[in-house]
Amino acid sequence: MKKDFIAVSDYSPEELQHLLDLAVALKKEWKAGGNKPLLKDRVLAMIFQKPSLRTRVSFDMAMRHLGGDALYLSPAEIGLGKRESIADVARVLSGYVDIIMARVFAHEHVTELAKWASIPVINGLSDFNHPCQAMADALTILEEFDTLKDKNVTFIGDGNNVAVSLMFIAAKLGANFTLAAPEGYDMPAQTVETARGFAAKNSSQINLLRDPQKAVKDADVIYTDTWTSMGQEEEARIREQAFAPYQVNEKLVAEARPEAIVMHCLPAHRGQEITNAVADGPHSRLFPQAHNRLHAQKAVLVYLLGEG
Ligand code: CP
Ligand code: NVA
Repeated sequence: MKKDFIAVSDYSPEELQHLLDLAVALKKEWKAGGNKPLLKDRVLAMIFQKPSLRTRVSFDMAMRHLGGDALYLSPAEIGLGKRESIADVARVLSGYVDIIMARVFAHEHVTELAKWASIPVINGLSDFNHPCQAMADALTILEEFDTLKDKNVTFIGDGNNVAVSLMFIAAKLGANFTLAAPEGYDMPAQTVETARGFAAKNSSQINLLRDPQKAVKDADVIYTDTWTSMGQEEEARIREQAFAPYQVNEKLVAEARPEAIVMHCLPAHRGQEITNAVADGPHSRLFPQAHNRLHAQKAVLVYLLGEG
């Protein structure tokens, strides 16, 4: 069993499948009337260096549904690495709560927390990746197509944190992953190589393209995210120009398979990376996907706390 949940790449396909099976079971149980109090009296500390709607509320509700509780610690309260060193925060919290979730800027901040904490640490988004999002994404794809194996998952836009985790989970679970990004917004070459290593074990492919039209041909999943991630606000203008040809609109979606679904981790910038017509159209799975954060994270919490 792993102590932490920091990156999809740390988990084997079998472990990821186990988490997804657990998520499916917990979702079914909850829909049938409520979850068993598997995490009774357990407390999650949620550290945020950045804003959040989904991560904050879904983790809080996940703990409540499972009989536990959650504490929200805002950027101003903790001052992670500023008011107090990360190592000290980790060691102090380890004596108060049962598990930590942290949303950070630098990925090293969450790995540093995990290094010093004697309790499990979950990455609630870093500049490098967003593994909780990937779990909810995989659950959503599974619900739609029954499997990820041989599905074509295409990400249109920035090779960002969300794209990296999606690529890892696709590669681990046998989906083909394609990124269409403008020049200068690719993923780090080393990260792509790592994913290709995982994909090779399943004979699946990782493709890097520039042309969004080509990228969505045969896509089962079209995925997009903001062009400007948190922390990159100063680049917003220049990014809007670079990404303008990468909008997920009805014309682009028409190039994919007729049964293709459209996904977005949210928050969406309607009129930029996605149009209203697509976000609210028949291919969209944006809200079931957001709701699956709750179920996927319950599985991660239950697993790390030794209850599943
Ligand atoms: N998708 C996601 O992580 O949303 P929040 O930033 O609102 O948590
Ligand atoms: N890529 C986005 C995801 C937000 C959930 C960001 O990091 O801001």
